[in-house]
Amino acid sequence: MKKTILVTGGAGFIGSNFVYLLLDERKDYKVVCVDALTYAANIHTLNKAMQNPNFKFYKEDIRNREGIFKIFEDEKPDIVVNFAAESHVDRSIENPAIFLETNILGTQVMMDACRKYGVERFHQVGTDEVYGDLPLDRPDLFFHEDTPIHTSSPYSTSKASADLLALAYYRTYGLPVTISRCSNNYGPYQFPEKLIPLMINNATQNKPLPVYGEGLNVRDWLYVKDHCYGILAVLEKGKVGEVYNLGGHNEKANIEIVKIILQELGKPESLITHVADRKGHDRRYAIDPSKANKELGWGPTTMFNEGIKLTIQWYKDNMDWMRECTSGEYMQYYQKMYANR
Ligand code: NAD
Ligand code: TYD
Repeated sequence: MKKTILVTGGAGFIGSNFVYLLLDERKDYKVVCVDALTYAANIHTLNKAMQNPNFKFYKEDIRNREGIFKIFEDEKPDIVVNFAAESHVDRSIENPAIFLETNILGTQVMMDACRKYGVERFHQVGTDEVYGDLPLDRPDLFFHEDTPIHTSSPYSTSKASADLLALAYYRTYGLPVTISRCSNNYGPYQFPEKLIPLMINNATQNKPLPVYGEGLNVRDWLYVKDHCYGILAVLEKGKVGEVYNLGGHNEKANIEIVKIILQELGKPESLITHVADRKGHDRRYAIDPSKANKELGWGPTTMFNEGIKLTIQWYKDNMDWMRECTSGEYMQYYQKMYANR
């Protein structure tokens, strides 16, 4: 009999890439996607999945206990992977409340449903931002799984809270929990509020590229499909109660990323505009993925040079998708965040 895997946030960036990976490479799973379709989702992302008999979609909010429990009653998932979250740091600085509600209380609802109906695994998709940041002048330092939680933004604080709650559910109730903490992802279907798709979108329209501060902050980039393979590896080979860091030792300063995008698109560097820095801006993220390498045999397969080309090409080929994301609410958001920056 097919196992049922319930994926929350599957209409968003990483969740949708994970849904497609499952449908393509794990045909023995029935995939149930639960997503509230917030501003960050684009339902057209799932067009192809909707035609697959192994896929079922529910529009539901993970904060809605009754609705979530009903889905568990009907679908009886064996495995739950929780991607659903408010995910953008800048929005969390503007309005923290929804981050606490979805990322903490929503995760609690999902885990309560898992406890009530029984699952073989609840996997929480976490972030390296829970470790805070590292200094720019200490390239020898990395985030390990036992690096203390030391958050900077309301976003990372809400994600850290969810991780701690998941570990508490493991210890207190014996819920079979795993957690992965990944570095910054890039690739198809990322909403253009995040650095890479925002810069691609602006550059293609010859609009200014708003770099925060000097652009020297460093992020550790991982191609989204490699993150999805990492989560699969945790599900298939990971130990319950454990945290796994996922990253590929691919650190780049923001300004480097922006220049690569301009070069790939054949656009001038004069489009770069330095704007006011983000409040509390984390300086450097850098993952030590050696636990996942050793214990799961996982490592990235798409190098940045190749991944960024694939990503830019994907956005060029999917301008309609980008236009759907940037109509409506996005214009107001952009105006509010960047007009007087
Ligand atoms: P995203 O913002 O692109 O997608 C989030 C999805 O969750 C959207 O489809 C949205 O509709 C859905 N959602 C939001 N609130 C919901 C709610 N209350 N109920 C149901 N669905 C809801 O985010 P993403 O970049 O795909 O990130 C997915 C997960 O991975 C998040 O938990 C994030 O913290 C984590 N993560 C992201 C990155 C990254 O670089 N993007 C890195 C590490 C970890
Ligand atoms: P982002 O994609 O928001 O991811 P995160 O903050 O979770 O790492 O931002 C990546 C980096 O790019 C971060 O250092 C902030 C910077 N940034 C800009 O310089 N300009 C922008 O318009 C955005 C969205 C981000």
